[in-house]
Amino acid sequence: MVRIIWQNRILSLILFIVLIIFFSCQSDKKLLNNPSSQKPETEFVNNLMERMTLEEKIGQLNLYTAGGDVTGPTMNGNYIAKVKAGRVGAVFNALSVSFNKELQRMAVEETRLGIPLLFGYDVIHGYRTIFPIPLAESCSWNLELMEKTAALAAEEAASAGINWTFSPMLDISRDPRWGRVAEGSGEDPFLCSMIARTRVKGYQGEDPESPQTILACVKHFAAYGAPVAGRDYATVDMSERMFRDVYLPPYQAAIEAGASTVMTAFNEFDGVPATANSYLLDSILRKEWGFDGFVVTDFNSIKELNNHGFSENDEMAAILSLNAGVDMDMQSDIYAANLMNLVKSNRIEEKKIDEAVRRILIMKYRLGLFRDPYLYLDEEREKATIYSNKILNHALASALESIVLLRNENYGGGKILPLSKGIKNLAIIGPMGKNKLDMLGCWHAAGDERKVTNLFEGIQEQVSQLNILYSLGCDFEGEDISGFSHAVKTAQQADVVILAMGENDAQNGEAASRSQIGFPGVQSRLIAEIRKTGKPTVLLVMAGRPIILNDEEQQIPAIINTWHLGTQGGRAIAQVLFGDYNPSGKLTMTIPRNEGQIPVFYSQKNTGRPYNPKDRFTTKYLDIPNEPLFPFGFGLSYTQFDYSSLQLSDSIISPQEELVVKVMVRNSGKISGEEVVQLYVRDLVGSVTRPIKELKGFRKILLEPGEIRWVSFTLKSDDLRFYNREMKFVAEPGAFMVYAGTNSAECLSAKFNLIP
Ligand code: NOJ
Repeated sequence: MVRIIWQNRILSLILFIVLIIFFSCQSDKKLLNNPSSQKPETEFVNNLMERMTLEEKIGQLNLYTAGGDVTGPTMNGNYIAKVKAGRVGAVFNALSVSFNKELQRMAVEETRLGIPLLFGYDVIHGYRTIFPIPLAESCSWNLELMEKTAALAAEEAASAGINWTFSPMLDISRDPRWGRVAEGSGEDPFLCSMIARTRVKGYQGEDPESPQTILACVKHFAAYGAPVAGRDYATVDMSERMFRDVYLPPYQAAIEAGASTVMTAFNEFDGVPATANSYLLDSILRKEWGFDGFVVTDFNSIKELNNHGFSENDEMAAILSLNAGVDMDMQSDIYAANLMNLVKSNRIEEKKIDEAVRRILIMKYRLGLFRDPYLYLDEEREKATIYSNKILNHALASALESIVLLRNENYGGGKILPLSKGIKNLAIIGPMGKNKLDMLGCWHAAGDERKVTNLFEGIQEQVSQLNILYSLGCDFEGEDISGFSHAVKTAQQADVVILAMGENDAQNGEAASRSQIGFPGVQSRLIAEIRKTGKPTVLLVMAGRPIILNDEEQQIPAIINTWHLGTQGGRAIAQVLFGDYNPSGKLTMTIPRNEGQIPVFYSQKNTGRPYNPKDRFTTKYLDIPNEPLFPFGFGLSYTQFDYSSLQLSDSIISPQEELVVKVMVRNSGKISGEEVVQLYVRDLVGSVTRPIKELKGFRKILLEPGEIRWVSFTLKSDDLRFYNREMKFVAEPGAFMVYAGTNSAECLSAKFNLIP
């Protein structure tokens, strides 16, 4: 009898469990079928937040550094105690699987709710394998290549336990005094926007849960690239029109491409520091663009509101930032120290904290960290990925395409470049000749200089029979000229001299503005001494920004802008010097004649008094031409491209129609080469004045010797939009010029009309 009762009880229990499973499956299905129901991520995060105390919520809003990135991360900071107490949302500069695993273990196993950490890092142009600085790579105009660079940088960083990069930097800049131009993609909003999308796609891939992809962080929001007088961190002040036409588009493109996070800028904008600027963070970013990720500050920016004179104290700084839309506090500790009291004293709404926490937890959910906090932490993967051949090979491909040939004159019967492999004695002179560290450029993450192939080694590898002489000559800074005489003697013994000049990795990048942007130190004096030897000379400009060349330097028959090319830099330069690779890079920043031309960019306005050499009262300088030394889009090849027959499909289009622009390009030289064909437009009359040229399209094509190709572009009326007098983004009917050519200054032109 007792047995039967027990059997019945067990049967009812089983029936009960089956029913529960059945109904829960039904409700899951309902969740999937009913679009209005919550997404699993929202449901998960809401459930989690219900269990969180206010203190735990505030904990998620803090990002701390694990120490300097040169000496490596440290477990000694007091951030460790905070991790163990569940008071940290994310850590940056924590590198390697073993290190991050230990931090993650503390967060997951030693805290009440076990919420995993995010691991951030400045993977700006690579993690360990260093690619060319972003400005250099933008000169490739090769979006596929840039997407792959971002994807491989993500893969390498992710293998070491990183799941969030503070990149891409999308600050347009037209001022090469500003050191951070190295991290961006130059001066043009159209090109920068394309690159913005590309890099976000590269970092984030299709699947956020893949342990090979990482979160992107768009920075620095906004207009950080336009500091007064080019001085880093200085005030930004510009018209709303300029902001929307030029500075905003790349950030917007990145958000449209799905960028997960945004970093606020150090600067103020229209009198309000970006970190407390609700117009930027709320009205534009969240409301206009529908951004649903989270916003992090730049380093200590909340605290700096006090220095800006925008807040009186830390409490006020916390209130202003949170209310403006800042979710995560990088390193200032102000949220951690103040938010609790501010809620208790009703000076901020707890709802605001909830919104910020929710955005951060959702990103952790999307990364798959709640499913597996150790997803990114696999030692085997780390070993197999770092410095793998796949990544190194791509770093070489990227370095090759980043190089811009600026000048290549006839010298003794032919062009000086490419050099003949029959040369017997080659002298490499200058501080970049055997340098490894500075080849990596600014923000070189965890790049190891020992893995760099420098210029000397690159040439040695490329041309086996060559006698390579070397002299340092001078350093990047200081007044020491004691190395000059050795350098001159070395040059005298050579058939050809390579001058390896430029900037070191600290002479550009953050906090590295320069008022004079020629070669720093005594390098120009050394160049002048070497020139006196009369030897055929090639000048390599190896720097993080456009460098101004003095009159004598401009006369050197061959000049190559190599930028800072990263781990594979020496190999790439050697291939270009000896013609194993035909250079194809084109400038994405104008190179001025002197600092007086700054801000300098191709898309200027015509003015009421456009320059006329016969009329004194027209816009000009008395001492130099208006034209820069090298315009936007400029770059030579070892072959020659001829442009002809610019044709338009019609001379009139309506807003619904497309205009097809065709131009014929011929490789009239003797070797194959790549050319970036560029398309520009000018709106001749507008309700507000328009630039004399704006980039609207480009194609990079490979042509064999003698090959002819029609290159076509399609223009729609949408491509002609701008912010009109009423700040509406529209295309205005009227006459337009269209230009196609090899750079922004040398183009064929035609005219068309847009009718209403
Ligand atoms: C300050 C820089 O402005 C920013 O770009 C960088 O991501 C952070 N420091 C973190 O290193």
